[in-house]
Amino acid sequence: MRVLCVCLGNICRSPMAEGMIAARAREAGVALEVDSAGMGDWHAGDPPDPRAIAAASARGIDISRQRARRVRPEDFMAFDLILAMDRSNLAALERLRPVGATAVLRIADPEGREVPDPYVGGAQDFETVLDMLEVIAESVVGGG
Ligand code: 4NP
Repeated sequence: MRVLCVCLGNICRSPMAEGMIAARAREAGVALEVDSAGMGDWHAGDPPDPRAIAAASARGIDISRQRARRVRPEDFMAFDLILAMDRSNLAALERLRPVGATAVLRIADPEGREVPDPYVGGAQDFETVLDMLEVIAESVVGGG
C-alpha cells in the first residue's frame, strides 16, 4: 500500500505524518510506502521546519532528509490512500482530483478531527500534532 500525507506547506504536519507512519509500519513489519506533499509550493525543496524535525526526533523519528514538494494530479494514481490533514486540505484535494483517480482520499484522523496547523504556534502545538499522528499512524498501519 502506498500512502501520501498532505498538508498546506509540507514542512510541518505532513512530514511528521510521513515519518510517524513509516516508523510505526516498520516497527509492525507492515509493508507501506509513505510520502508527503503540500498544497502550496512556497517551501518546495526545503527540509521540514526545524521545530518539526526536533519534535519528531525527540520521539525517535528522523525526518531531516525529507524535502517538500507540491501535490500533483498524478499522485491520485500513484498512491492508494491520500490523507488530508485538515478540511481545507481535503477540499483543495477534491478540486485537484483528476478524472480516473484511483486513490482513496480522506481526512487523516479516523474520527474526522483536523490536525491543527502548528506553523504559527509553539513547541506544544507540535506535540499536539504528534499525539494525533500516533493515533492516525495506528489506524493506517493497523488497518493495513
Ligand atoms: P504545514 O504548515 O501545512 O503543517 O506544513 C505550514 C507551513 C507553511 C505555511 C503554512 C502552513 N506557509 O504558509 O508557508
